Amino acid sequence: MKAAIAGTGSYLPERILTNMELERMVDTSDEWITSRTGIKERRIVGPDEATSDLAAAAARKALEMASVDAEELDLIIVATITPDFMFPSTAGQVQRLLGAHRAAAFDIEAACTGFIYALSVGELFITGGKYNKVLVIGAEVLSRFVNWEDKTTCVLFGDGSGAALLVPSEDEERGIISTHLHSDGRMWDILMAPAGGSRMPIDERAIAQKLNTVKMKGNEVFKVAVTKLSEVVDEVLQENGLGEEDIDFLVPHQANLRIIQATAKKLKLPMEKVIITVDRHGNTSAASVPLALDEAVRSGRIKQGDRVLLEAFGGGLTWGAALVRW
Ligand code: COA
Repeated sequence: MKAAIAGTGSYLPERILTNMELERMVDTSDEWITSRTGIKERRIVGPDEATSDLAAAAARKALEMASVDAEELDLIIVATITPDFMFPSTAGQVQRLLGAHRAAAFDIEAACTGFIYALSVGELFITGGKYNKVLVIGAEVLSRFVNWEDKTTCVLFGDGSGAALLVPSEDEERGIISTHLHSDGRMWDILMAPAGGSRMPIDERAIAQKLNTVKMKGNEVFKVAVTKLSEVVDEVLQENGLGEEDIDFLVPHQANLRIIQATAKKLKLPMEKVIITVDRHGNTSAASVPLALDEAVRSGRIKQGDRVLLEAFGGGLTWGAALVRW
């Protein structure tokens, strides 16, 4: 049995923050941001919005596409590094907002690879026969965890959410073909938020030094990302006995256009087969892959029968991929 994606959904907050506005906030330029990252604008939540609100909005659209009621859900998994609370889980908040009273709910934290990890876990609950309707969500409010005085990070991130509903596939040809998860905790410190956990609670010093915000060694992350994404893409092809020509669409994590282009080149995929949203969304961490996927599905670019390769890379370090037959 395979797990198929029966519906997708996404949500973006209304407020658009452009590179031009950032030019007035920190010592940066539209030219620098565009040429180094491909980002032109990103979305920022309103004062009353939290991650679960974004997650529930994307979830409702995925349920609607699949014609499934929230009460039918067996499990809700939310991938996020920007939860509503330290505890309880954001998934529990989503359950409450949706009225999905039957569902179990928990969060997964694998940074920008979170959606790939969550999809892989959701798939196992379906193929193991335990559950029939599993909602997998990636949702982030990174704007509240970014140091808006640090030009090396604040220009990169945005807020948003994406969701996918997993169901058992009656058609053996359709659904998740394989998932590939990797992690290397030795490189934990090149992309992280130092304070806010048990190792460094948030105190006056942490707040003064903004240690509860994203810290990144961008150059190092860039190099590892290109290498590891190239490796995992090879792994997907090899394990499935496929060639580059068998991939119809690449839905990459949207961190940086140059990283995306490197992976597309590795796959010998023309850029029209690559779903790009980084220019409009920035890096929305765990939300970026399901956001891009939903856009490609709703616009009719991804069609039944297409082989779609999802991939992501992020803090942890973590990286991974999923191959899906649409
Ligand atoms: N505007 C203007 N100048 C900036 C800037 C900004 N927003 N951010 C950094 N700079 C400056 C630096 O201060 C540095 O100046 P210096 O040479 O005078 O010291 C210069 O630009 C080069 O910095 P560097 O960090 O080497 O740039 P880069 O070419 O590596 O690009 C990133 C920076 C962040 C765009 C790039 O490293 C990257 O995309 N890394 C991967 C990040 C990522 O994907 N993270 C998420 C993974 S999930």
